[in-house]
Formats: sequence, structure tokens, C-alpha cells
Amino acid sequence: MSNRFESLAAPGIRGLVPYVPGKPPEELERELGITGSIKLASNENPLGPGPHARAAIVAAAAGAGMYPDGSGHVLRSRLARRHRVAIGQVTLGNGSNDVLVLLAETFLTPEFEAVYSQYAFAVYPIAVQASGARARVAAARPSDHPMPLGHDPAAILAMIGPRTRLVFLANPNNPTGTWLTGTELRSLVRAIPPDVIVVLDEAYHEYSIGEGLPDGTAWLADHPNLVVVRTFSKAYGLAGLRVGYALSHPDVAELLNRVRQPFNVSVVGLAAAAAALDDREHVAATVALNRQGLQRLREGLLALGIKVLPSAANFVLCDLGRPAAPVNEALQRRGVIVRPVANYGLPDHLRISTGTAAQNERVIEAMRAALAEGA
Ligand SMILES: Cc1ncc(COP(=O)(O)O)c(C=O)c1O
Repeated sequence: MSNRFESLAAPGIRGLVPYVPGKPPEELERELGITGSIKLASNENPLGPGPHARAAIVAAAAGAGMYPDGSGHVLRSRLARRHRVAIGQVTLGNGSNDVLVLLAETFLTPEFEAVYSQYAFAVYPIAVQASGARARVAAARPSDHPMPLGHDPAAILAMIGPRTRLVFLANPNNPTGTWLTGTELRSLVRAIPPDVIVVLDEAYHEYSIGEGLPDGTAWLADHPNLVVVRTFSKAYGLAGLRVGYALSHPDVAELLNRVRQPFNVSVVGLAAAAAALDDREHVAATVALNRQGLQRLREGLLALGIKVLPSAANFVLCDLGRPAAPVNEALQRRGVIVRPVANYGLPDHLRISTGTAAQNERVIEAMRAALAEGA
């Protein structure tokens, strides 16, 4: 369908394909006339917010008639203490997605380039294209590599040139689940020129602790060009409230703050995130549930002959070895929503988030039935 105002749009917006989110259960239920569907499509936390965050959400609601503290002082100072940085190094976002877009707005124009890996998180290409900058996509590791379809540091370095302003790295990456080890990532960050901003997206960091993945925040002091991006959407269970943040050199934070909307995080979001940050028990319970979920999904899907990629996040990428669309439809008919990833150039794959133990059993059973019916 053509848009009659297409030619009036800014160059980066022309031809831009919007992000496709996971299908909401209500939509599927409306379409198919079913009830009781489950969604394992957006890497959300099946436990939702923890008790501290829930209490803070209720308490903060009374203040919703007022604008939030535009500086987000309380949350930023708690984040600064947690990460042992100065408050001036913390930038809040309406989800980490907002922070990624702020970075693109701040550092990219049509004369410049941004580098990211093939199969990297879908928001990078959108943010880069919208800015009018040129994307240089580094080939991913091959599918027979121990980290199939993952970031290839040599390929990423080879794409960096005099016009590169930003490099996006996701560790672990979505939708692949794959990761770079501390040694690989550190050498990559060291090899990137100091006048290129390195955006290290650690949205799934909390799940990866103990799996041998590095904590990029430890390198901030040595690399003023490094920006570490985190979120409250995943292990903290606050995806619906939209709170994320960047840790960076204070001068980078000062630039981001120039374009940041003054009230980009809500009253309720600020309060919930501050409470969630201290609820270590809830994060620990989330991570433990996820570990069991990853193991169960892996063994259940492998038993059905499905190839499952390694994952240090809260989802697995499955290689069905055949077109995934009919399987996805068969799963939906059984009330199970997972994520097709054809938009990433992976038409034979599906991404499945870990759920509760019951949800994990349900997706495995639905997959068994879908394959049995020849989907
Ligand atoms: C790698 C990565 N970065 C960032 C985000 C954005 O999350 P949010 O905007 O909810 O913080 C996601 C969401 O799925 C993600 O997978």
C-alpha cells in the first residue's frame, strides 16, 4: 500500500519498515475466537514485577497527576551507586529502546555510518535508518560455529571506517541468544577507535551472570567512548512500564540529555524501577526460573528434532530446518504465541521466550502436535 505523503517524509523515514512486536494474546484470541492463549514472544518476565515494585506502583499512582522528576534523580542516584559511577553518567530512557534511539539521534546524520552485526537486535537498523545514516552490516558467524549466527568481532572491526560514529553490540544478542566472551568483547572494544561510540546493549545481562559473560560496566573507566545500555524490562519484570538506562562518560550523557524528552520516564516507572533495583530476591527467582526454562525448552525441543541455539538470555532461537511460518500458525491455533524472525532474514527459525514451568510444557506440547500434523 503506497503512502501519499511518502515523498514528504524525511529521507530516513522513506521506506522504513516499522518494528514488529510480538502478537498480543488478546489479538490472537479475537482473531481465532479462542481463550487461554499464552505469549512467549517478547522475552518478558513470566513472574512480572516483584513485590517491592508492585507496592511502589500502587503507591506512586497517587502522584500520577504531576509530571515526573525530569532529572530522575532518585533512580539515577541508585543506579549510580549500584554501578559505582557518578550520577552524571546515568541517562534514563523510556525503555532501553528510547536510549538506543537517543544515541542514534545524537551521533548520526546522513554523512555518517553505524556498524552492527547481521542478526543483531532489530531496533539498531531502524534507529540508524531513521537518522538517515548508512548502516554497515557485519556478517555473522556461520551456523556451524559454536556461537551460530552470533557477532563476529573481526567482521565488525572490518566494517569500521572513517565515517563510523556508532557501533552497536548486543551481549547476549537478541534474537540469536549468542554471546561474546569477556576476552573477545574486551579485545573488540579495545580495537575500536576512541572516536567511535561503542553501544554495548546488555538488556539480558542479569540472566547471563554466571554463564561467563562479562559485565561491560567494568570497562567504562578505561573507555570513554563506551556506552552500556541496560533495561528494567527483562529480569526486573517491568516491560510494561518502559524504563531503561545508559551508563557512559558524563560528556556522552550530557549530549544525550540535550535530545532526551524532559519527562521520558513516568512517575510510576521511576518509582517501580527504584524499588525493583533493590529487590535482589525477585531477580534471583527470575534468573533461577529462567535457567530451568532454558534447560527444559532445550531438551524438549531437541527431543522433537529441533536445533536449538545456545542462549545466555531468556529465550531460545530454534532452527526448524524448514519454513517456520506454517509451524508458527499451527502453534497459534493451539493458543501459543512465539516469535517468527523472518524479518531478521531467518525464515526457518522461531524465537521462544522462557515462561513458567507450565507454559514451557505447553509450548513443547504444542510444537509436538504442530510437527505431528505436518506443519
Ligand atoms: C537486545 C535488546 N535491547 C534492547 C531491547 C529493548 O527493550 P526495552 O526498550 O524494553 O528496554 C530489547 C528488547 O527486546 C532487546 O532484546
